[in-house]
Amino acid sequence: MSEFLEVFGAKTHNLKNVRVKIPKHKLVTITGVSGSGKSSLAFDTVYAEGQRRYLESLSTYARMIVSSINDDTKVDEIRGLSPTISINQKTVSSNPRSTVGTITEIYDFYRLLFTTVGVPYCPEHPDVALKKDTVSSVTATALSAAPGEKLYLLSPLSKKAESAKFSEIANEVLEKGFVRFMIGDALCSVGDVEGPDLVP
Ligand SMILES: Nc1ncnc2c1ncn2[C@@H]1O[C@H](COP(=O)(O)OP(=O)(O)OP(=O)(O)O)[C@@H](O)[C@H]1O
Ligand SMILES: [Mg+2]
Ligand SMILES: [Zn+2]
Repeated sequence: MSEFLEVFGAKTHNLKNVRVKIPKHKLVTITGVSGSGKSSLAFDTVYAEGQRRYLESLSTYARMIVSSINDDTKVDEIRGLSPTISINQKTVSSNPRSTVGTITEIYDFYRLLFTTVGVPYCPEHPDVALKKDTVSSVTATALSAAPGEKLYLLSPLSKKAESAKFSEIANEVLEKGFVRFMIGDALCSVGDVEGPDLVP
């Protein structure tokens, strides 16, 4: 891939057949008096062309959905163009978590990419890849238990139980018609008078 981005014959708005050669992997600024055409070159010519090429790679249907881009671009040719993103001339929130990734929303696409093609691992067992259980895999595991083996089917109790006292939790469980419950890793019974250390 070319080491330069080259624009030939840019005539967008007031640009007079501008030809520029911009080095890649460098921070490059365009300067000039107001109205000289900086935005016309950066946003309406280079960025717009990058978006246009990106759109061309999508299906006709997707193209209809993605909002149409500025169509005033007048340029003979642009060489060495990589995918373009634009962060507009606006005051961005001073939130320290605002990064180029979040402002441009690239971060959202990355997240989608990694959740789709990535393999998640258990933080406590880094060798174990997590996989999604299905109804049949859960059934199969349950049925493979030895005769007489105890099986607990657990579900979260309620949000307010997180801050409740042990006796309150035990009462709630009992009211719902159950006798056993777990707090953390500890198995408890509604008849217990006190809970595991972590609950008062
Ligand atoms: N959408 C548009 N349609 C037609 N003419 C436009 C459009 N946008 C800008 N122009 C004209 O193009 C010329 C260059 O404007 P441009 O916004 O590119 O200048 P600039 O150098 O970015 O200025 P500033 O420093 O104020 O941002 C101006 O004469 C402007 O009126
Ligand atoms: Mg401008
Ligand atoms: Zn684990």
